[in-house]
Amino acid sequence: MVNSKIMKIFWLFLIAANISANETNDVKTIFEQLEVVPDVVPSAPNRFLKVTYANDLEVKAGIELTPTQVKSQPVVEWEADQDLFYTLIMTDPDAPSRNAPKFREFKHWLVGNIPNNDISKGEVLSAYVGSGPPKDSGLHRYVFLLYKQNGKLEFTEARVGNNSREERPNFRTANFALKYDLDYPVAGNFYQAQWDEYVPFVHKQLSGN
Ligand SMILES: *[C@@H]1O[C@H](CO)[C@@H](O)[C@H](O)[C@H]1NC(C)=O
Ligand SMILES: *[C@@H]1O[C@H](CO)[C@@H](O)[C@H](O)[C@H]1NC(C)=O
Repeated sequence: MVNSKIMKIFWLFLIAANISANETNDVKTIFEQLEVVPDVVPSAPNRFLKVTYANDLEVKAGIELTPTQVKSQPVVEWEADQDLFYTLIMTDPDAPSRNAPKFREFKHWLVGNIPNNDISKGEVLSAYVGSGPPKDSGLHRYVFLLYKQNGKLEFTEARVGNNSREERPNFRTANFALKYDLDYPVAGNFYQAQWDEYVPFVHKQLSGN
């Protein structure tokens, strides 16, 4: 009896170890398959970032969501190391389309100096805007990346509200990371989305209305 209990615990342990050993592979595989590496970052994060939209809708490795589903700021969770600051980026490398991304990247959300994992205490450099892929522009990738900072930073970027396009097109995650010495993203995730009937509202919002 005791033996079988121990065996059970042992197997559960093995299964858990296996899952965590393979999360790294999964993140790397999906980031490379959908070419987020190299289009956005030179190498994949080690972990998935937990991103949850309204109605418990979780972002999972490249799944397709609709602009309607992602219209409001999601909850983003991670296990923080104590007393560190983080930067969170959400970006679309496929603006205005993945085939001809002449505005690569379009910045959707940028929060710096997040103490531990409390986004509400971070500095909002660009407020969250949901997906607004133009009609017939196909699937866009919406990529979340979490970086550990080397201490508290002084950001020189203009503060951009959720009703402004200012400084959003032609953003480059890799350049931003270099500028602030952010090395590699510790966690990441992405979904894909194409036009739906909510997009005109996003565009209207971005034009200041
Ligand atoms: C991880 O996944 C691969 C297949 O993707 C599998 O062959 C391997 O056994 C798994 N476990 C570990 C610990 O790598
Ligand atoms: C835009 O920002 C304002 C002010 O923070 C907020 O009240 C509003 O809900 C936001 N709109 C959207 C669509 O996120």
